[in-house]
Amino acid sequence: MKIAIIGTGYVGLVTGTCLSDLGHKVTCIDLDKKKINNLKKGIVPIYEQGLEELVIKNIKKNNLSFTNSLKKGIKGAKTVFVCVQTPSKKDGSVELKYVYKVAKQLSENIESYKVIVNKSTVPVGTAKEVKKIIKKKYKGDFDVVSCPEFLREGSAVIDFFGADRIIVGCESEKSCQIMKEIFKKMKVKKIFTNLENAELVKYASNAFLATKISFINEMSNICERVGADVEVVARGMGLDRRIGQYFLRAGIGYGGSCFPKDVKGLNQISGTHGYDFKLLKAVIEVNNYQRQLLVERSEKILKNLKNKQITIFGLAFKNNTDDIRESAAIEIIKRLQKKGAKVQAYDPVAQKNAAKVLNNIIFWEDPYKACENSQALIIATEWPHYKDFDWKKIKHLLRRPIVLDGRNLLDPEKMKKLGFIYESIGR
Ligand code: UDX
Repeated sequence: MKIAIIGTGYVGLVTGTCLSDLGHKVTCIDLDKKKINNLKKGIVPIYEQGLEELVIKNIKKNNLSFTNSLKKGIKGAKTVFVCVQTPSKKDGSVELKYVYKVAKQLSENIESYKVIVNKSTVPVGTAKEVKKIIKKKYKGDFDVVSCPEFLREGSAVIDFFGADRIIVGCESEKSCQIMKEIFKKMKVKKIFTNLENAELVKYASNAFLATKISFINEMSNICERVGADVEVVARGMGLDRRIGQYFLRAGIGYGGSCFPKDVKGLNQISGTHGYDFKLLKAVIEVNNYQRQLLVERSEKILKNLKNKQITIFGLAFKNNTDDIRESAAIEIIKRLQKKGAKVQAYDPVAQKNAAKVLNNIIFWEDPYKACENSQALIIATEWPHYKDFDWKKIKHLLRRPIVLDGRNLLDPEKMKKLGFIYESIGR
């Protein structure tokens, strides 16, 4: 089937490429001329494992193409996936102007029946609003469906092909059949339902995962006070199949382009529909508290942070990505600098993006260089290879052997044996 993808960010580019790998003829559309020209050459602007190879493979197979022109890109396409950003506004509500702008452009350029697929995370009712906007100008037949994405950054390609479920909200049998046709090769559980259910399940899933994280972070604060180990408590909890082991890792809290936005978004959505989502307010509050924990601790250990040099391992919102949106690491760096600390940082892939939002900071490609003369080292993202560093060497490079592990990555016994003053979260 001929498919058009509008927006080539994390979601659009991964969705379009993976759909082309299923054998569909996919055209990805983006306003950014430089990005499109690079994509035509197989140069992928984001760090996503396995994506670049898939893009190159499907360009060669003539299943995947790129254009700046929406009119050209949607011509002949039976489905058009809308994958543009839906960021948070200042009040936490969801910014839908990019989605609505695309809807208006579609109303001016649709030339035959199409299924418009809302892939972006949007509040309940958005699909119906998109339909209204298109109907204003386009009097022909079309449908709008909701098909939320469940891709984690850093493992988006794996999450596409290994999805736990595909959720599709449709209003007509015709659009439902077309969506079944698109995913027919995927042996994944599918739910075909109405628009409201499909739009809400995405927020509910992300908000619940964020709630799990804030819950275990609250538990970590209790563990510290009663002499328990949150890693053992989390393992014990996770063996209950009703709870599950995932998303119970205590640390400096969640970040990224989804959880913060979707938790605030759902909080807003419930408020506008007359319900006070009390639990979500606590999830947000706990997450904000976790982010300042390590700043507080470094200030306590070093007495004060003025002119102290601190090293940060990790700049992105998590390992395996270069994305620094809502990154706890970035917030911690800004708080440290505000207290007069001098910060040096190492991250395997996110330095370029971090340099766009940080000042007065030294970035190092070499983690050992990043440690030289620092009075403390903070671990902010959970890259597994940090464990294989020569920590004896790091101890001699640091001016003071202080490590604050914000992701509970390292073994407390080993670190203490090496002579570090080692602190982590909930242990
Ligand atoms: C998330 C959802 O997982 C995905 O299904 C949705 O489509 C998009 O949002 P993503 O934001 O890419 O994916 O990252 P994820 O791996 O979910 O981690 C989100 C944040 O939570 C990261 O900052 C991570 O460090 C943190 N986290 C995750 C924890 O603090 N503890 C955990 O146990 C898991």
